[in-house]
Amino acid sequence: MTQPKWAFYNQQYAKHGQYGGAQLVAAAQYPEGNPEEHFRAIVMGLGGPQKRVLDIGSGSGGFTLSLAPQYGQVVGVEPSDLMQKAQAQQQEMGIQNVVFERQDAFHTTFADQSFDVIYSRRGPNPRAEVDRLLRPDGDFVHITIGYDDARSLKDLFGRGQMFEKRGSSLDWRRQKLLERGYDICVLKEYGYDEYYATIDDLNAFLARVPIFEDYGLSGDADFLLRYAESNMTPQGIWLGRHRVLVHATKR
Ligand SMILES: C[S@@+](CC[C@H](N)C(=O)[O-])C[C@H]1O[C@@H](n2cnc3c(N)ncnc32)[C@H](O)[C@@H]1O
Repeated sequence: MTQPKWAFYNQQYAKHGQYGGAQLVAAAQYPEGNPEEHFRAIVMGLGGPQKRVLDIGSGSGGFTLSLAPQYGQVVGVEPSDLMQKAQAQQQEMGIQNVVFERQDAFHTTFADQSFDVIYSRRGPNPRAEVDRLLRPDGDFVHITIGYDDARSLKDLFGRGQMFEKRGSSLDWRRQKLLERGYDICVLKEYGYDEYYATIDDLNAFLARVPIFEDYGLSGDADFLLRYAESNMTPQGIWLGRHRVLVHATKR
């Protein structure tokens, strides 16, 4: 049987009960601003008491739940076992206006034009489903991994997320959004720098994120050592990150 695309996230739930490795980053520098903060500010700013928002790939649900005070209703779709963590957190916090559903975002059961805002926070971008579910004048917001994310690390390992695929240019993204009938509010790339205090921290980080979904193969420890040696700085072991932020309104 072939593995589902979200098998990596099922493994993360089985091992750690949640997803994420941000706590292992010792320091970061954002010469073009922090893309995650920009994304959060956009999604928060679009809220309102009558608004219904869809989170595509809600993962462990922390970000989704944090939006509850800003929106009338928040719906998170997530096909992996991380859904269990999200639901447990919601129960613990006693939040009423968030709904988590175990669904594949490419084929959901929601009615046409039933969301005012749809966002994906490093999750998939199911274009046809977004077009179907978003109401006219509704907003789509996506923060996604850029093709140059952890590029020097992936080059040394000879594999990794978007290793071969050089990714979509901003021009291509702009053209596709316009063809689909969206007006573009934000379309921006961000490069930024992260630092890891020790090789153990970088090792633990790589085991918890999908830069290499198969991290831990024989030879990886040696690659990591070589990477750490050549990227050691006074702030720690450097890792170059790359994100793309999109905010577009459906005409
Ligand atoms: C990088 S994680 C981000 C999780 C969460 N948005 C966050 O910010 O922490 C990507 C998420 O997308 C989910 N995902 C993958 N394929 C999906 C699909 N077809 N439909 C919905 N979610 C999907 C994964 O299971 C995972 O939880």
